[in-house]
Amino acid sequence: MKSAEVCFTRNATEGNSVIAAGLMLQPGDEVIFESHAHPGGSFPWANQATLRGVQVKLFDPDAASPEANLARIRALITPRTKVIQVSHITCTTGLVFPVRAIADLAQAHGIWFHIDGAQSVGMIPVNLDAIGCDSYAFSGHKWIGGPHETGVLYIRQSKLESVAVTGIGAHAGELTHLPGEIKLAPAASRHEYGTRNAGLIAGLAEAIRLQEAIGRDRIAAYGKGMATHLLEELTKIPDVTVLTPRPAEMRGSMTTITHARAGAGKLFNYLWKEHSLRCRPVTEQGLQAVRISTHVFNSPAECERVIAGVRAATRAL
Ligand SMILES: Cc1ncc(COP(=O)(O)O)c(C=O)c1O
Repeated sequence: MKSAEVCFTRNATEGNSVIAAGLMLQPGDEVIFESHAHPGGSFPWANQATLRGVQVKLFDPDAASPEANLARIRALITPRTKVIQVSHITCTTGLVFPVRAIADLAQAHGIWFHIDGAQSVGMIPVNLDAIGCDSYAFSGHKWIGGPHETGVLYIRQSKLESVAVTGIGAHAGELTHLPGEIKLAPAASRHEYGTRNAGLIAGLAEAIRLQEAIGRDRIAAYGKGMATHLLEELTKIPDVTVLTPRPAEMRGSMTTITHARAGAGKLFNYLWKEHSLRCRPVTEQGLQAVRISTHVFNSPAECERVIAGVRAATRAL
């Protein structure tokens, strides 16, 4: 990845929005993405549907296999498909999409491939050159542990001119005398448009340095090790269903469960109030689930508390 391919944003949503608005789709053009997309990934396209008549085509993520997801995407492709977008890792069940294979599929059809990486960078090692996507957005404040209001949008250098600049100002390029034509910066930073908080970016860089000192593979293996233990143990609890995919290549450091009698809010509140466990209620697409994230600062002892807390929840609720 080259520095000219990096644009600092305020969050993942801003990166997703730059792509959705900047690709300037026409009425009837189609975009494919998963039904479990976070609002930060789906709203920019729902907005394009309203503003430009873009057709949104959704597929439900398939927990069975990477190939099953590839097949679902392939089945939705038509001559009008202009964009495929997936969350690298879904915010609902923590499913890891086969992004390399999807990139090949998109490329073979001449379709733009954008990835919402809000839940991946900082959890797993991500090599954008190896993935081969056209654009990739992520947050600084989630798995990287950087400051709020930081994010990055990557746009592949050869595709820079395909994304129209929709927010524009002094930081986007040059125009010494009015009237005249703006000479856009020859880099993805043209989308930064105005003054940014350099202190926040320095904080993001420091957070990245800390993770690099620990080691990206170590962070991924440690978080996934705990998640695997949770998946195995929570599966054994009657009245609890684990929604996170079983195949190892389809999951990372998140584990999502449902309770047979308690919805997302009830289970979340119980774990928080009675066991001081801060999880995340998952309500997208009507999923009544709770997601447990295991990062580098969590411990195996905390995982035992989660297992005990969920077991207690099946008695109490
Ligand atoms: C997959 C996904 N996309 C986008 C977002 C929104 O991220 P941000 O708040 O950085 O815009 C989230 C937040 O949880 C997410 O999980």
